Amino acid sequence: MENTMFPVKWCGNERVSAEQNSEAISRVFPSGISRLARSFHQQIPGYQISPLKSYPHLAAMLGLGGIWVKDESQRMALNSFKILGGSYAIYRVVKSILGFDHEEIPFTQLTSSEVRAKLGGITFAAATDGNHGRGVAWAAHVMNLRSVIYVHKFTSKARIDAIASYGADVRVVDGTYDDAVRQANIDAQQNGWQVISDTSWEGYEDVPRWVMQGYTTMCSEIQEQLAGQGIVKPTHVFVQAGVGALAASVIGFYHQLFGTNDPVAVIVEPDKAACLYHSAKLGDGQPHSFSGDLDTIMAGLACGDPSPLAWSILRDCADMFLSCPDYVAAKGMRVYGVPLKGDPFIVSGESGAVTLGALMFIMERPELADLRNKLGLDRKSQVLLINSEGNTDPNHFRRVVWDGAEPVPSEYKEYN
Ligand SMILES: Cc1ncc(COP(=O)(O)O)c(C=O)c1O
Repeated sequence: MENTMFPVKWCGNERVSAEQNSEAISRVFPSGISRLARSFHQQIPGYQISPLKSYPHLAAMLGLGGIWVKDESQRMALNSFKILGGSYAIYRVVKSILGFDHEEIPFTQLTSSEVRAKLGGITFAAATDGNHGRGVAWAAHVMNLRSVIYVHKFTSKARIDAIASYGADVRVVDGTYDDAVRQANIDAQQNGWQVISDTSWEGYEDVPRWVMQGYTTMCSEIQEQLAGQGIVKPTHVFVQAGVGALAASVIGFYHQLFGTNDPVAVIVEPDKAACLYHSAKLGDGQPHSFSGDLDTIMAGLACGDPSPLAWSILRDCADMFLSCPDYVAAKGMRVYGVPLKGDPFIVSGESGAVTLGALMFIMERPELADLRNKLGLDRKSQVLLINSEGNTDPNHFRRVVWDGAEPVPSEYKEYN
């Protein structure tokens, strides 16, 4: 089921009710995994719970009960949730090489010279559209290990410099993010490097599964923070997606906790890289690639190939897939930057802000009333958003927030 209304195109998931007991979720998120991931992250020097911020005034203006934003711009020094996945996957890879598959090892041991000596000249390789590679480079750096990070040709200099600042060897691939994934894999096989990928492919699922498990630390923090506010769970979660690993983690976490009473899950993608939306629309249950140069300002979401592992969860349990033009993300960035009086300020990058932009258009535009009703968004709704990144590309951030790049088209601007 699809509509063609702008500024948000949407596609409901016909399979969701039939497939509520997702075998994929049990496989990727075995019971107790979020506790293990979190206890690993808690040992990392500098770890702190990132804030969960409440937007009561915006919620009232939009006709919602509450809006809660998990602010990953304050995730350690890295400005993004991505560090949680890369670091946990590296931990699991190292544990496995050392023969501790079924035991936890303390972080101090992981970074010890004995472990380093045992690992020899191990090198981690990853492809990235910015944030994942930065997280992998950071984790390798903390453990005094080598990393080689592959970026695509549209990656900004600021993002490349941020990765290189952790001592990574950064290689630019003439193509898209998906080409960078392929090249990283080819070179890793030739050189005997360990690939730390956030996306999966046939025969390569362990590492992406660990990456996804690592993201659940963020969800367990959220639940603790909501409980502190007297809220048992959000009624809705809007999650932005590139390959879909983050969205599948959030859905998997909530499904494990609340079963079929989990929040309504809305997946949000850029219209120029909407591989999950496209797959949902084709409706055959398979992941499908989205072709094109993926030229969106939402650099973190510029992925043309869904992660099959993530897709197996989204296919069964996501409720709605949205495809949004760049101006939806730009609006979100500006609203976070200049909130209503009494609401908190958040630094939100392009990929971080798109869910707020989408939520606002859905609640405000008459053309989207049908979608609003289908999602059951009303004054009783407690909506969870994830600001998945802060200002990770300062020049572009200023272009949007200061200079007003990607303005909302005039037909969608009026307020009453
Ligand atoms: C800031 C940001 N948000 C969201 C995502 C989406 O994550 P995934 O690719 O797992 O869907 C990414 C991916 O790199 C990202 O960098």
